[in-house]
Amino acid sequence: METQSIFIRHARIIDPSRQLDRVGDLLLGGGEILAAGRLGVDRIPDGAIVINGLGLVASPGFIDLHCHLREPGFEYKETIAAGSRAGAKGGFTTLCCMPNTDPPIDNAAVVDYIRQRARQDSLIRILSIGCVTKGRKGLELAEMEELANAGVVAFSDDGDPVYDANLMRLALTYSSDLGLPISNHCQDRSLSCNGVMAEGSVATHLGLDGIPAAAEEAMIARDIALAESTGGRLHVAHLSTAGSVPLVREAKERGLPVTAEVCPHHLTITDQWVLGGKGEPRASAGSLAYDTATKVYPPLRAQRDVDALIQGLADGVIDCIATDHAPHDITSKQVTYQDAAFGISVLETALGSLLQLVHGKKLSMGALVDRLTNGPAKVLGESYADLASMQPGTAADVVLFDPEEDWTVDTSEFESKGRNTPLEGTKLKGRVVATFSGGNMVYQGPGLRFEESRARV
Ligand code: DOR
Repeated sequence: METQSIFIRHARIIDPSRQLDRVGDLLLGGGEILAAGRLGVDRIPDGAIVINGLGLVASPGFIDLHCHLREPGFEYKETIAAGSRAGAKGGFTTLCCMPNTDPPIDNAAVVDYIRQRARQDSLIRILSIGCVTKGRKGLELAEMEELANAGVVAFSDDGDPVYDANLMRLALTYSSDLGLPISNHCQDRSLSCNGVMAEGSVATHLGLDGIPAAAEEAMIARDIALAESTGGRLHVAHLSTAGSVPLVREAKERGLPVTAEVCPHHLTITDQWVLGGKGEPRASAGSLAYDTATKVYPPLRAQRDVDALIQGLADGVIDCIATDHAPHDITSKQVTYQDAAFGISVLETALGSLLQLVHGKKLSMGALVDRLTNGPAKVLGESYADLASMQPGTAADVVLFDPEEDWTVDTSEFESKGRNTPLEGTKLKGRVVATFSGGNMVYQGPGLRFEESRARV
């Protein structure tokens, strides 16, 4: 189907894959990027939709290497349709869905099923991540080659670690042959035990079982040793502790094929938020004893961890930002902290949260866009480089956002079925104005300003 041409005027165009960051115009047509730069009004095609991009940033659509779309099996929590709308609203044009579905993504038939559903229901590109082990049970390897042939982009048992070191070693050996990364959820269960939040003074105050930082760091250290001995590609999922950053840094310095991701919540909020006062001292925090919306794995940690993660992201030790969008139904969260499900619904708040780092001068705008586009594309590998490019001839997957727009998170307006976010009611600065997938406008926000279409005489 022929898509209408779109001409975006005077936006700040950021394309990290080309080190491009300058004000200019962007022309989309036939599903592709046709031109970017100082184009001028003469280049506006007849009948094009013209958008005023003044004050807005235009970048490649965001790529999320880690989200939970819950389909098949948990459609009461999320569907590919709702997750794709949430992604589009958050500026994402590619979502990689994790395999903790029912049935899990451990064979080609499930990969095909997701591809079909995505073709029917999704506004944006959906890529599947296959299981490392059959049924995610951690006992024997899944048919990794079958999954690779079916089109998975990585392997993970996310939600659960690959606990058996020898299985992880084998998986990494295969991963080097298949050229796909293993994204491990690093959690040494003999250390995390029954923990529900980060070990520390807040956990002690609430009488909740804590999860020590070593539960994450011990498994990352193990996996780096295994990546070194096998040559396999290790991608460390959702890094959360200060001590994890130097482990990844040192592995990279030694030239090992190791990459890492961090989530928006681990970069912006701490375990103080578990107390229910959105990080404010309890006295002025209202009546909640705790907020189960803050329960997530890995857990929210201390400010020193947040600071180290931001530094690691700014330095490029952490390659990319991934949401770990984990939507849950209300009943999974309206229970005690111990019984609540782990997970936060993130797609629609990610950009607004992350822009705090830019406004607070902790991360440059260019680095933020890089870690949401070019960074994850590089983890996916050379064949996905175009996803993060605004070169003429590449797919018109583009996000347009206003870094200055103030808004308040209202989960009743979420596209995601998961309303489980501790950010409900908080004020954020910066919001998506429009998202284009293959040249189609798949999200149009209230801030989008059209100019009159300029038919030439
Ligand atoms: O908080 C989380 N929720 N962490 C995970 O690793 C899994 C996820 C889920 O599937 O709900």
